Amino acid sequence: MSKVDIDLDKLFSEALKASDFAYAPYSKFRVGAALLADDGEGDSIIITGVNVENRSFGLTICAERSAVVKAISIGLSSFKALAVSTPDSVDPVGPCGACRQVLSEFMAPDAKVIFGGSGKEKVITTVGELYPFDSLHDLGSK
Ligand code: THU
Repeated sequence: MSKVDIDLDKLFSEALKASDFAYAPYSKFRVGAALLADDGEGDSIIITGVNVENRSFGLTICAERSAVVKAISIGLSSFKALAVSTPDSVDPVGPCGACRQVLSEFMAPDAKVIFGGSGKEKVITTVGELYPFDSLHDLGSK
């Protein structure tokens, strides 16, 4: 049983802080993501990510996927929750379709997701609600 506590407000504030580091010179739409990762020994650690754009637009990586890639690359792959902050929109902006697919690879359907813009409204949902009827097919590689 995991001892990882989930403080979604704190996770969201880390996502907001991270959004300062977004590299978004083209869209001017900064996104910060914060993953609550389990270190396997009962402690939690927050891993952040930002959107990183490129002049070849299709190479842009979203904040959510940048957080996942950063975490996996330091040996963390159990994620309990995700926060996404989009301070350049008033209303909440949820993860894009590509990110939902990637999140579903590493997060359980009941893992919590919180997202919000600069306004008061925050959406609190789950990976399963964001990505229902997941394409869970066994490739025999795990
Ligand atoms: N973006 C994200 O980082 N995450 C999302 O889920 C939605 C979109 C980024 C990509 C691009 O740099 C900017 O927001 C505008 O689409």
